[in-house]
Amino acid sequence: MIKHILCIGAGYVGGPTMAVIAKHCPGIRVVVADINADRVAAWRSGEPPIYEPGLKEVLATSLGRNLHFTADLEAAIPEADVIFVSVNTPTKTFGRGAGKAADLQYWEKTARTILQHAQGHTIVVEKSTLPVRTAEAMERILKTGNAGARFDILSNPEFLAEGTAIADLERPDRVLIGGAETKEGRAAIQALVEVYGQWVPADRILTTNVWSSELSKLAANAFLAQRVSSINAVSAICERTGADVLEVARAIGADVRIGPKFLKAGVGFGGSCFQKDILNLVYLCEHHGLEEVARYWESVVTLNLYQKRRFVERMIHAMFNTLAEKRIAVFGFAFKADTGDTRDSPATEVCRELLAEHAHVCVTDPQALPSARRDLHDAGPRLTFEDDPYAAARGAHAIALLTDWREYRDLDYERIYAGMEKPAFVFDGRNLLDAARLHAIGFNVYSIGRPDLSRL
Ligand code: UDX
Ligand code: UDX
Repeated sequence: MIKHILCIGAGYVGGPTMAVIAKHCPGIRVVVADINADRVAAWRSGEPPIYEPGLKEVLATSLGRNLHFTADLEAAIPEADVIFVSVNTPTKTFGRGAGKAADLQYWEKTARTILQHAQGHTIVVEKSTLPVRTAEAMERILKTGNAGARFDILSNPEFLAEGTAIADLERPDRVLIGGAETKEGRAAIQALVEVYGQWVPADRILTTNVWSSELSKLAANAFLAQRVSSINAVSAICERTGADVLEVARAIGADVRIGPKFLKAGVGFGGSCFQKDILNLVYLCEHHGLEEVARYWESVVTLNLYQKRRFVERMIHAMFNTLAEKRIAVFGFAFKADTGDTRDSPATEVCRELLAEHAHVCVTDPQALPSARRDLHDAGPRLTFEDDPYAAARGAHAIALLTDWREYRDLDYERIYAGMEKPAFVFDGRNLLDAARLHAIGFNVYSIGRPDLSRL
């Protein structure tokens, strides 16, 4: 029977996941530890350091009751029956595998801290997305020394998407738990199955061996990203031929074997997972000498880079082949709507390319401005930020819409048009806006994979 859960890492994954576990398991004490004291203080105050719809309400159900946040990791380890490791695993920026392999330094440091302080039997759960066979390495670390402790290692990858994290955790398509095919391994799996079983139907809890679980997470993200790159590839053909990608996506998605989801063409996928996990898969394939397989998956990322570049090239071409000294209002910097997260956001590269063309760029976003300021801190005086989209668009030659925030659909575009330089352009990188209506107002409208609505 699990009584104490500890989660290391109070980020986008650890925070919401533990809030939902604590809500549904009042008999379990859940402690979330993070090295970042400011983050811990924010969670404790009931005002999470991340924006996620519905999170505050879930947090309020158990904060201070059976859910606690701490910066004192070492003190929290001995009493834990289960330790979830949910620290970030960015792509390596140095040494071997730089640009592809996962940087495991935080993760290994965490494993060593667990080893040093654990007492009795502890189940260690990989929640972070990790390279396949990391659990094995973790096991090796945890089995050196500390005679007073015994460990079982499970893989329990997180499938939540940002912006819908709470709904995804409350009603998951599946929960995946991988463990060793031994008596102890099966008992550890069962203990975790019982935790999730308190709110997830039994047929949605899948158990596998550790490596299947680790690989499934990378493969799931690679498949999702591949769908986005596939429809983005189709959008490029549409722009050349007069086909409309919305019509094509609808026609393709009506086939139940394909399905309608994840077929939105756009300025490219972003977020902390897709690119990182595919590159991780590519590195794994190369390591095993699977060159063709590595190139296959790598092309998903290559196409994504192409899509972002193509977006900027279309802007330059439409605006008479020069952006120099023109003001561009960037609507949205987050990698998708309903999050303040900007990790690997397509907006980062688009903004940098616009600045390289000597455009004046004014960025607005309802949640992501603090993060955007950090990401582009070195961008120089041509870059500015505005909370208010109307102010961002005032005096602009063009709007580039890069995040699908619903509120951007409902702005008063007559008012915006009146305040802009003419001819006024809209480049809708998410096919969010009503192109015909904007065109009727006077804008020259360029959507992704759709015919231009231009007056020029
Ligand atoms: C998640 C997953 O865990 C990761 O595998 C995935 O690839 C990206 O998404 P996420 O929760 O989004 O990570 O990351 P982040 O929001 O950066 O949170 C990680 C937290 O761990 C941070 O708050 C950081 O301060 C904390 N941390 C990091 C520690 O407490 N200890 C460390 O040693 C390193
Ligand atoms: C993803 C996975 O969906 C989730 O299961 C996993 O746990 C983490 O990685 P996330 O990165 O939060 O979640 O967001 P997701 O909704 O998958 O979107 C990723 C990117 O793809 C975003 O930039 C989004 O705008 C883009 N996208 C998505 C499209 O461009 N078109 C689509 O049709 C869908």
